[in-house]
Amino acid sequence: MTKDMHDIAVVLLAAGQGSRMNSELPKVLHHLGGVPLVWHALNAVQSLDPARVVVVTGHGAEAVEKSVAAFDAEIVCVRQETQSGTAHAVAQAEDALSGFSGDVVVLYGDTPFVSADTLGAMCTSRETSDLVVLGFEAADPGRYGRLITTGTELQKIVEAKDATAEELAVTLCNSGVVMANRDTLFSLISDVGNDNAAQEYYLTDIVGLARDAGKSASVVMCDEAETLGINTRAELAQAEVAFQNRARAMALENGVSLQDPATTYFSFDTVIGRDTVIGANTVMGPGVTIESGAQIRPFCHLEGCHVSQGAIVGPFARLRPGAELQENTHVGNFVEIKNAVLAEGAKVNHLSYVGDADIGEATNIGAGTITCNYDGVMKHRTTIGARAFIGSNTLLVAPVSVGDEAMTGSGTVVTQDVEPGALAIARARQVNKPGLAVKLMEMLRRKKSKKEA
Ligand code: UD1
Ligand code: MG
Repeated sequence: MTKDMHDIAVVLLAAGQGSRMNSELPKVLHHLGGVPLVWHALNAVQSLDPARVVVVTGHGAEAVEKSVAAFDAEIVCVRQETQSGTAHAVAQAEDALSGFSGDVVVLYGDTPFVSADTLGAMCTSRETSDLVVLGFEAADPGRYGRLITTGTELQKIVEAKDATAEELAVTLCNSGVVMANRDTLFSLISDVGNDNAAQEYYLTDIVGLARDAGKSASVVMCDEAETLGINTRAELAQAEVAFQNRARAMALENGVSLQDPATTYFSFDTVIGRDTVIGANTVMGPGVTIESGAQIRPFCHLEGCHVSQGAIVGPFARLRPGAELQENTHVGNFVEIKNAVLAEGAKVNHLSYVGDADIGEATNIGAGTITCNYDGVMKHRTTIGARAFIGSNTLLVAPVSVGDEAMTGSGTVVTQDVEPGALAIARARQVNKPGLAVKLMEMLRRKKSKKEA
């Protein structure tokens, strides 16, 4: 239990309405980098290896709680029934942190860019200060709370609404991130009142209260870009640009070639290996991993998929969740792959849908092949062996399997399993009628001139 003294818990505030988003969706569920905003903050605090994470929900609580559970089922959510201010919000987490005696970091669900380094710097500062607040120099201090300091000591935080003209001139602002020992934090919060312009319980008041009680408070600084909070759709769009620019710079630094960085879009968890080349106008949704030395040609859309070394994808390909492309596979233009494994060297080069399927090594799937995986109620699997040759425009009505080294004739509708080495042909036999084409044309032309006369 002594270890608990040095443990860290996180309280993430996500109860606010976010009314300026003008949205039915709770603010923290709007997407950034392909995932809900709240996931970014949850991801950032992983670096602290927190003993507990508590998320305070309110507006759209059910949906927010579902999203938090999808990130990590261990996270505890507590509800704030009325949004009476940030101190009131943190107070809701007190019970969930009973029995915990370490430090608590409070941060906001709508502030996605706080870095691991910054959180680390706060932990270091906590060793010599009772209370640590994350601050920044604001280009436009506007509505931010102002940090009032003497020397290196933080004296109080004044909300813009309650500030004097002199205080408003201060450009050192409050990010909202605060760190203190659990007992100190909740004891200070219990003394916070709501006698202010907004009639809210301000978390920021704990600094003045701490100073009055003879406790020390310090400021850790970070770049303004890190504390960017999202309040409007315009800010969300700006944050997306900032996120993408960072992801692009990181990919380039890691040895990935981007043909036109400004038109390549990443998700928060995209992983791409060295010497992979990404063509212009390519979008990576969540859950994409691409090994080194792959080629993603222009105009591709990927999500929830894995692309192995030496694979070539696109142009104009769509890889959906569960697509696994093993080494040296080719997926060409206007091909969609979903929940399917392409074994080494398999090729699907043109105009095909391969869904719920296993495609064997070095098998070639002809143009226009479709796996008919859905019967209107259930999904079924198609299994194709190694070195098979699927003729153009084959329909594979699943569940169905085609053995190793088997072939299907072009235009075949496969409804029965095909044994290894067999050729399946399922189409009407061709009949040629000598001279009939010429006769038919003459008849049609006569008809037309009769009509015109
Ligand atoms: C807050 C700070 C301000 C700081 C700014 C940084 C206070 C009183 N003010 O102001 O000093 O400069 O953030 O962005 O803390 N929330 C709840 N329940 C509530 C109220 C808020 O969960 O009852 C959550 C919101 O969802 C949001 C966060 O707390 O994620 C901050 O609330 P917000 O209303 O945006 O505070 P600001 O006025 O921006
Ligand atoms: Mg705010």
